[in-house]
Amino acid sequence: MSVNLLLVLGTRPQIIKSIPFIKLASGDEKIDLSIIHTGQHYDYEMTASLFETFDLPAPDANLEVGSHPAIEQITRIMTRLNKAIETPPDLMIVPGDTNSALAAALVASKRSIPLAHIEAGARSYNMEMPEEVNRRIIDHCSDLLFAPTVNCRKNLLDEKVRGDVFRTGDTMLDLFYDIKEKIEECNIVEDMGLEEEGYTLLTLHRPENVDDPERLALRLDELKTQGEIIFLVHPRTRERLRKFKITLPSNIKAVNPVNYVEILKLVKHSKAVATDSGGLQKEVFWSGKPLIILRETTEWPETKTGRIEDFGLGNASQIILGLITSHLNRL
Ligand code: UD1
Repeated sequence: MSVNLLLVLGTRPQIIKSIPFIKLASGDEKIDLSIIHTGQHYDYEMTASLFETFDLPAPDANLEVGSHPAIEQITRIMTRLNKAIETPPDLMIVPGDTNSALAAALVASKRSIPLAHIEAGARSYNMEMPEEVNRRIIDHCSDLLFAPTVNCRKNLLDEKVRGDVFRTGDTMLDLFYDIKEKIEECNIVEDMGLEEEGYTLLTLHRPENVDDPERLALRLDELKTQGEIIFLVHPRTRERLRKFKITLPSNIKAVNPVNYVEILKLVKHSKAVATDSGGLQKEVFWSGKPLIILRETTEWPETKTGRIEDFGLGNASQIILGLITSHLNRL
């Protein structure tokens, strides 16, 4: 008998965290995997390009919620997801800490659907950060908690979560290893006319950095002396730059978001990377590049003092799938 898994995702980082898992689960005949996309992200490079690049099965449904203030976004996702789930799955799976993940976890809890959390236990201990609140609630609603690092596992045990905690390694590292060949074949550095090791890569999208005009201008001003900077502008930041009428310092060149393989190629040949993204922070560390963290706190202390092995061996998705199937078969 096959097991019914429902994976709920809605943003670029959640898709990235799920790619190796989707590949494995959809190739396993004992697993019936459904995917619901909330539609929190909808721009081509934020979502569809990932499904194409990695040849993923299209989501079974897209809730098309789009961009709204947090409370509206979360409640819309909850209402639409609740309607979309006619027959409850054996297990709902949510990756990460976005509003989509929180809304899905609350639906699972209210509908008594068992819940698994991929990337459980990450903590920045900064409750001003929307994702920190989301993660804590998701972790306390979860039955199976897949912690990428020893530190994440410890955070969960310290908080005495009620579900079962496993240290699995990081599914993003699985993908990082899997796409090495694709990165080799990618020509973005030449296509953009960049000199190898001649530029710093910049990403900035967290509300704490981009929602306040003075703070955003200050962040950009701080980078004035860094030489040539390639700024991959997130849609949220693009909108804020326009609204606040901020002009970039002359050394910062803004470019539209590029696809995932292209970002990692740009990281590989950069001289350094400045970012406020948690996911990119890990990938820069794994690439062995100098990292400038544009945040006061981080949920990934391992990127400051640790080793790549702290994030596992690149088989986290396989471990997670094994744990899920043995858990469901035991019931
Ligand atoms: C969300 C996640 C964040 C994650 C980030 C990665 C939450 C609370 N935050 O932040 O954890 O790191 O995704 O990208 O869930 N927009 C577009 N096109 C899109 C999506 C968004 O133009 O496809 C613009 C809209 O102006 C929107 C803004 O970006 O208002 C913010 O989008 P939203 O999904 O609310 O949050 P992110 O900043 O992307």
